[in-house]
Amino acid sequence: MIWQLQGFDRVEFIQQYWQKKPCLMRQVFANFQSPVSPEELAGLACEEGVHSRLVIEKDAETPWQLSYGPFSEDEFRSLPASHYSLLVSECEKWIPELAELLDEFRFIPSWRIDDLMVSYAPLGGSVGPHSDEYDVFLLQVQGHRKWQYTNSRVENPTLLAGLDLAIMQDFTADQEAVLAPGDMLYLPPGIAHHGVALDPCLTYSIGFRAATAVEVLESFILEADRRNLGSQRYCDRELEVNRHFAEITDTEVDRFKNLALSLLDAPRQLWVDTAGKLLSDSVINDFSPEQPPARLDELFQFDWLINPETKMLYHRGNSSISFYCNGQSWELPNSDQVIAVIQALCEHRVLAASTLEACALQPALSKLLIELVNNGAIVRADQ
Ligand code: SIN
Ligand code: CO
Repeated sequence: MIWQLQGFDRVEFIQQYWQKKPCLMRQVFANFQSPVSPEELAGLACEEGVHSRLVIEKDAETPWQLSYGPFSEDEFRSLPASHYSLLVSECEKWIPELAELLDEFRFIPSWRIDDLMVSYAPLGGSVGPHSDEYDVFLLQVQGHRKWQYTNSRVENPTLLAGLDLAIMQDFTADQEAVLAPGDMLYLPPGIAHHGVALDPCLTYSIGFRAATAVEVLESFILEADRRNLGSQRYCDRELEVNRHFAEITDTEVDRFKNLALSLLDAPRQLWVDTAGKLLSDSVINDFSPEQPPARLDELFQFDWLINPETKMLYHRGNSSISFYCNGQSWELPNSDQVIAVIQALCEHRVLAASTLEACALQPALSKLLIELVNNGAIVRADQ
């Protein structure tokens, strides 16, 4: 472990700041060394499959310009000397030390974390004043950035017209702070902010996701459908007689609403699976290894890693444990031994020999582990 959050009271932070108000933290990552340099970040932004963006201010006819990677070396060579930002998302997938840094944020559920974005900006670089619908920790890693931000949510701000970027037309800050390496600023959703580089700087954004009601409902509907629920039909035995045939009456609208609400009042496990599958959803699907292991003892012949894209979560119910991995679910016996193995799987990036041994003692866990290998959630370290 290279870095640790220091002098930071997790309980106080959650009770007073999380989702409530901005929090400026000085030197909470003192002596922080970025495992990625600006040059390496630019190299990453040239690679296929890496999500990168360049935001350039005052470069051409529009005040702001946005372009998406992968970029070429020539594009980097022709950048202006100042007033631009290079932003690379999901860096924790490419740089293992950054995945370790995210572990420091485990005082918040792992399924709330979206990604770690690294941005580089020379003097004057910024992405303009804006607000995000995400909670974010802005960790200053190299150089200095002046942050201006509001104390509370800004509702429906007017945006600059004709841009691909959501930049606020009018921005008035309540607070201002210059962040030096090791300082961190937390912003809840909706807080308007504007961070300008005072010298060449690297900033990490640890962003958090929050599902929309529509996403929750979509996941619920998928689950309900899998269980063949939801086939109950609209019925109108008390059909109104004095009405125009083309009218949809208020009573009828209520019948539709109640039909849908009766489905939502579903058994608890359907809601558990709705949450588990939604939150563990990942890009890994339909993976099939060349030679799938059939027995657990075959796994002992190699070293195994948890695929960096894998998401594992669990819910402990009264009689069983629901385990979720990459959008799939497993029902496991509820015992302290099983929970210990499940937590070990969720906590580490390598599959420890002790976890393998513990799985060998429980048929349900042996079966689970083989299936996790077969669907690509766990991969061979040497491949
Ligand atoms: C940046 O790192 O430049 C932008 C981060 C943000 O404002 O969300
Ligand atoms: Co932002």
